[in-house]
Amino acid sequence: MKKKPVQPARRGASAPPEAPARVVVLAAGVGSRMRSSLPKVLHRVAGRTLVEAVLDAAAPLSPSRVVVVVGADRAKIVEVLDGRGLRFAVQDPPLGTGDAVARASEALGSGDGPVLVLAGDTPMLRPETLRRLVARRQAGNLDLVFLTFRPPEAGDFGRVVRNGRGKPTAIVEARNASARQRKIAEVNAGVYCFDAAALGRALPKIRRNPVSGEYYLTDAVAVLAGGRGRVEAVEAEDWREAWGVNTRRDLAAAEELERRRGVERALESGVSLLDPATVRIGPQVELAPDVVLHPFVCLEGKTVLSEGCEVLAFTRLKDTRLEPGAAIGPHCDAEGAHVGPRAQVGPYSRLRPGAVLEEDVRVGNFVEVKNTVLRKGVKALHLAYLGDAEVGAGANIGAGVITCNYDGEKKHRTTVGEGAFIGTDTQLVAPVTVGKGAYVGAGTTVTQDVPDGALALSRSPQVNKEGWAARRKARKND
Ligand code: UD1
Ligand code: CA
Repeated sequence: MKKKPVQPARRGASAPPEAPARVVVLAAGVGSRMRSSLPKVLHRVAGRTLVEAVLDAAAPLSPSRVVVVVGADRAKIVEVLDGRGLRFAVQDPPLGTGDAVARASEALGSGDGPVLVLAGDTPMLRPETLRRLVARRQAGNLDLVFLTFRPPEAGDFGRVVRNGRGKPTAIVEARNASARQRKIAEVNAGVYCFDAAALGRALPKIRRNPVSGEYYLTDAVAVLAGGRGRVEAVEAEDWREAWGVNTRRDLAAAEELERRRGVERALESGVSLLDPATVRIGPQVELAPDVVLHPFVCLEGKTVLSEGCEVLAFTRLKDTRLEPGAAIGPHCDAEGAHVGPRAQVGPYSRLRPGAVLEEDVRVGNFVEVKNTVLRKGVKALHLAYLGDAEVGAGANIGAGVITCNYDGEKKHRTTVGEGAFIGTDTQLVAPVTVGKGAYVGAGTTVTQDVPDGALALSRSPQVNKEGWAARRKARKND
């Protein structure tokens, strides 16, 4: 991994804060190299679509406007990005990245800040790097700063041509490059920070590429670098960040790069990994020191693991929060759940959205919890379904207890009081309340509220028929 010091800002901290950037994300390409009916930018890396990964990288810069350029398959993309406060520009047919930016100009409007142009297929981009480009552009009052990187193989990426003084003069697409240019190791990431006026000057000067018939945004470098143009290139600190996805091979590589990046981040945060080769940690996961992750753990979305948590083998957590000292797994699945301090979950438990487990709760094998609060110290250790319920502190939920929360049309709530004991194989037919300290006998179907401290039973009395087995045998042998 190559580290480069951040270049010092020429005008330093005294420069006035710059107007917020406007952002264009290019997502109108056909993506034919994926061989997929799904638009390329909707393929996922570490559980997140490529285009959302790019938007998430730009969001911390608080852009004044974000325009996504979409093409013929725009309906699916617009649907996925709905609710993010974005503007969409249509480019149909796709005539190249330069044309795509031109199509965005109306939606982009005007503004004083710079214009960031981002390829929609670079899922590993980080906000820090975008900030670096913005700061560099402002400090040097540059027309354009773009991101470069040096992957192990330059492949189809555009080659960055620099002059004798190290200034970039052109980006040459691999297919247009001379044999000599193809040997250049530094390539274009497809991430640009333009001075707004310079972008406006450059776009009309970009000519159709004679080989492909497309307008290449990359030609803006040669257009602006000519004469007294001020163009610079900044190399990514870690080449993996700029990895672009065109093929399934690239996508699989991105998944593995992202997985490695998650593993490294975890190790740096003070997390123990029992088997780093099989753990997956998404880019938005927060990890505290002294977390322990066992083999084949998968952490997705906005999962937060606090100090001293343990996640045992074959457990998937999505958008789930674990408080200090909580443990979950092996073989658990949790989504949208909150697990309190020192709570223990598993093996084979399922926590669904709205499952809230307070401190010292214990949830065991084949227990499913959905939209339910289990207060401090509740135990539900075997084979239960708890949905749309609130269970008071210290209550005991026996094996096979089911909240019958759905009447075929509506959901209803179940309340179990503090310290109540719900016997094995009880059905709680909601809406229903079991009072504080009440007991429900095994096998009871609870259809009426149970007062505090009462015992509820609904069993047909047992009948014992003495000598029945012998009489049966005798009848059979007749
Ligand atoms: C592009 C760059 C290349 C760079 C690479 C980095 C150009 C000409 N080449 O190549 O220098 O090394 O990215 O990953 O820019 N798009 C549109 N409309 C179009 C064409 C593309 O919106 O008409 C979008 C695509 O959806 C994609 C992005 O622009 O998200 C980049 O296009 P793509 O075709 O993937 O370009 P590359 O060949 O990878
Ligand atoms: Ca690409």
